[in-house]
Amino acid sequence: MERTFIAIKPDAVQRGLVGQIISRFEAKGFTLVGLKMMMVSRELAEKHYDVHKERPFFNGLVDFIISSPIVAMVWEGEGVVASARKIIGATNPLTSEPGTIRGDYGISIGRNLIHGSDAIETAQREISLWFKEEELAIWEPGLTKWIVE
Ligand code: RTP
Ligand code: MG
Repeated sequence: MERTFIAIKPDAVQRGLVGQIISRFEAKGFTLVGLKMMMVSRELAEKHYDVHKERPFFNGLVDFIISSPIVAMVWEGEGVVASARKIIGATNPLTSEPGTIRGDYGISIGRNLIHGSDAIETAQREISLWFKEEELAIWEPGLTKWIVE
């Protein structure tokens, strides 16, 4: 089953939006299989954003991610990688559509509330970077047959 890595960034945790953000993925019908609140080490933040290491915003981004706790999650379901990116919205919250998480709650690209894997292969890399296999729950919600045909 397809999985994606989602992180609720420090700004959203500080603003008390954890519950509302989790609710959106639950309400859509995706399955939560991993969840932990944590302070992120600089090493982990740098590995996670390795693809951006030459970009001018890299150091500020890493400093921000390690500044305060985040909530790391793995969500599962058919098409979850692309669908989660739609639920999250465009990178710059000023251009994200209303109804998306960034579009509803954000203004600034450097305070855009949430991360979601951008492709299936990226998701696999990120999930193994952030979670040990035994931290993930293998389960099928009883409601699945009422959500997925
Ligand atoms: P994310 O990886 O966090 O889910 O965001 P994304 O795919 O929508 O955007 P990406 O291009 O991967 O950028 C990663 C994060 O870097 C910050 N950023 N700042 N100041 C800037 O121009 C700039 N550009 C990107 C954002 O926090 C973005 O989420
Ligand atoms: Mg990205």
